[in-house]
Amino acid sequence: MAVIALKCPEIEVVVVDIAAPRINAWNSDHLPIYEPGLDDVVKKCRGKNLFFSTDVEKHVAEANIVFVSVNTPTKTQGLGAGKAADLTYWESAARMIADVSKTDKIVVEKSTVPVKTAEAIERILTHNRKGINFTILSNPEFLAEGTAIADLFKPDRVLIGGRETPEGQKAIHALRDVYAHWVPVDRILCTNLWSAELSKLAANAFLAQRISSVNAMSALCEATGADVSQVSHSIGTDSRIGPKFLNASVGFGGSCFQKDILNLVYICECNGLPEVANYWKQVIKVNDYQKTRFVNRVVSSMFNTVSGKKIAVLGFAFKKDTGDTRETPAIDVCKGLLGDKAKLSIYDPQVSEDQITRDLAMKKFDWDHPAHLQPLSPTSNKQVSVVWDAYEAIKDAHGICILTEWDEFKNLDYKKVFDCMQKPAFVFDGRNVVDVNKLREIGFIVYSIGKPLDSWLKDMPAVA
Ligand code: UDX
Repeated sequence: MAVIALKCPEIEVVVVDIAAPRINAWNSDHLPIYEPGLDDVVKKCRGKNLFFSTDVEKHVAEANIVFVSVNTPTKTQGLGAGKAADLTYWESAARMIADVSKTDKIVVEKSTVPVKTAEAIERILTHNRKGINFTILSNPEFLAEGTAIADLFKPDRVLIGGRETPEGQKAIHALRDVYAHWVPVDRILCTNLWSAELSKLAANAFLAQRISSVNAMSALCEATGADVSQVSHSIGTDSRIGPKFLNASVGFGGSCFQKDILNLVYICECNGLPEVANYWKQVIKVNDYQKTRFVNRVVSSMFNTVSGKKIAVLGFAFKKDTGDTRETPAIDVCKGLLGDKAKLSIYDPQVSEDQITRDLAMKKFDWDHPAHLQPLSPTSNKQVSVVWDAYEAIKDAHGICILTEWDEFKNLDYKKVFDCMQKPAFVFDGRNVVDVNKLREIGFIVYSIGKPLDSWLKDMPAVA
């Protein structure tokens, strides 16, 4: 919305939320999320044509176009628990829009939702419409965190789905005109509603599948002595495959990939397509396998026990340049190590102690539900300390796990790091950021995903 405000000075954009602390933060000097470049954009427009408010009903009533970006968590109970999207928040937003509207509106589905949500929302709106016309559009967002502003300034494509009726087409054109302020028209794709909704799920499923494919290869590389970076490079030069998104890692995280695939799986099952459902389920299974495999490597390398040993965890966010920890692989890896009674010292340049404590206490899928449904003040775990400096995390540690590819982890003074650790000193690089040969020369025992194994690890029991 901030980018729309920046690129369309004549359009007034009001971002509304019922959570006052969040709106206050958006109106302050400390925005509630860390995203490179976002501060600049907000500062340029705030108070001019970009506003943040808790007066939801007033601003919805006044708007011509309403973007709905409420959370759509995975259901934790009832029908479809652990798979289907919980549309409670979407439904109440739609009912509120119907209640407060006095003029015709275009309602844009911005949250990622299961296919055919638009139809359900359309029904709520039309059944409560009091003579007002609502036209529903699907406009899924493809930005990635950490590069959101660059992605929005120069999107590969903008997707707008709508009904193939005259009203639907008119609404599509109205939204297209907003994006056309800065996006070349040939990059604005217009489709029917279902195609737009499914395209978002499909894009995320394909992207996640690429990572699970390369991660599956990484296990085979470790078993055979091939180097996954070399394999990725070789296959990426095939123009049909392409070089991007082929980095083996400890696993993918983020708010979208797992949730969207679970949705896709559920939709397939509901449509009587179990083979297709199982195909996509496997992408998540490989991701879980990769995290378990990493934990097993750590434990087996350290004489099959990490009990009482200090392990420094460098990076907790699900990727670099964000403070977001939703579905980060670090949660499962840390829980796995804690299960083996390790003592963890965690450092991430952007994630707070409070967030890490909550994440380690939270149940699966709770993260996307409102804060009042999550554990209030989780008791801190004595085995976990969160520190604000990489060297402090590392001091006296037996091993280091790199779980986010923050640039600063590439440039640590590894000689200094080695000197202040217990020996033998281990580095487990879950993001392939360190120079393995240099670290081995210093004296470290290094495990790097999908790379030829250190002779130390080769002699350890095989990991499943
Ligand atoms: C993703 C999609 O890219 C975006 O289009 C969609 O709108 C939302 O979901 P995001 O979750 O912000 O965006 O991050 P992304 O860059 O896609 O990374 C997702 C995860 O995959 C991260 O944990 C990342 O570390 C991991 N990843 C990515 C890899 O492990 N290897 C890669 O080669 C690329």
